[in-house]
Amino acid sequence: MSALAKSDLSSPENGSESGSHLIAKESLALFVEMKDAFSQLDHVPLREVLLESLDAERESIQAIARSFSTFLSGRQSPDIRRRFFSSWQKTNNSAMSVEGLANRMTAEGEAQVVAGQSARALSLFRAAGRLNRVADEDLGVGGQTLHFELYYRMATEFSEKGDQWQSRQYCLSAASDFKTWLDSTRLRSPVIEGLFSLLVHEGYTHAELEMIAKPFQKWAVEHMELSERDARRVLAWISVHNGGTEKAHFAHSCASLSHYLEGSGAAVDLQVAQEIFRTYFRMKGAVMSALSELYT
Ligand SMILES: [Fe+2]
Ligand SMILES: [Fe+2]
Repeated sequence: MSALAKSDLSSPENGSESGSHLIAKESLALFVEMKDAFSQLDHVPLREVLLESLDAERESIQAIARSFSTFLSGRQSPDIRRRFFSSWQKTNNSAMSVEGLANRMTAEGEAQVVAGQSARALSLFRAAGRLNRVADEDLGVGGQTLHFELYYRMATEFSEKGDQWQSRQYCLSAASDFKTWLDSTRLRSPVIEGLFSLLVHEGYTHAELEMIAKPFQKWAVEHMELSERDARRVLAWISVHNGGTEKAHFAHSCASLSHYLEGSGAAVDLQVAQEIFRTYFRMKGAVMSALSELYT
């Protein structure tokens, strides 16, 4: 664990968890969970760049941990809660651009069919298939509740049971910038760049949702005064992503990359990949820091 010193985890003298101790613990949890997900990537040079980028953006990861920890340390005003849920959603909800990236791959696959390159075409269709698996749960494939509905239930409950949080006026500009950038890597940049953004996103979201599950449950009961049972129901959006769901998405993203490299003949540019990985952490950190300014 090079990203954080072991001393960051030492117990505070009074035996209770101080705010800074908790933030250090949550930062460490983000690093550990991301490294766990990223270790599934077989492409060794790319995996190394991913891990180096994570270490290089340590300050952003700490800012993210600090933001969640502070938000969950009390009952913020309804206006702040609306801003939080409106902006946070922009950094999580990306199934549409995952499917957009898959559409671009199948268009490349069709072109290879026309060119008589059936082996390449099959690889491209398989690459797109793995992207479909990344978005299955979000889209309710299999009959489960759409993830948007679960997020709506959570955000609305914590916004005084009203859904004004959906209005764009509550979305911070750093959050819209993040979404615009993430979507553009998948819909406008070369397809391989969209895959780089997918790798970092799926590994990061795995870590974030594992890290925040217990603190959110505690906050919902202690500060938002829900029963344990109601809190679990309202926080289903978080729990459905845990227990391996997001880690499996990372594995599908790795498989998609490998099929795409075979089918397209594209090469991995480590410099480009590094820029995308680091930008992702920096922009997510900027969103969470902008939220922190509202409640610190
Ligand atoms: Fe989801
Ligand atoms: Fe995912």
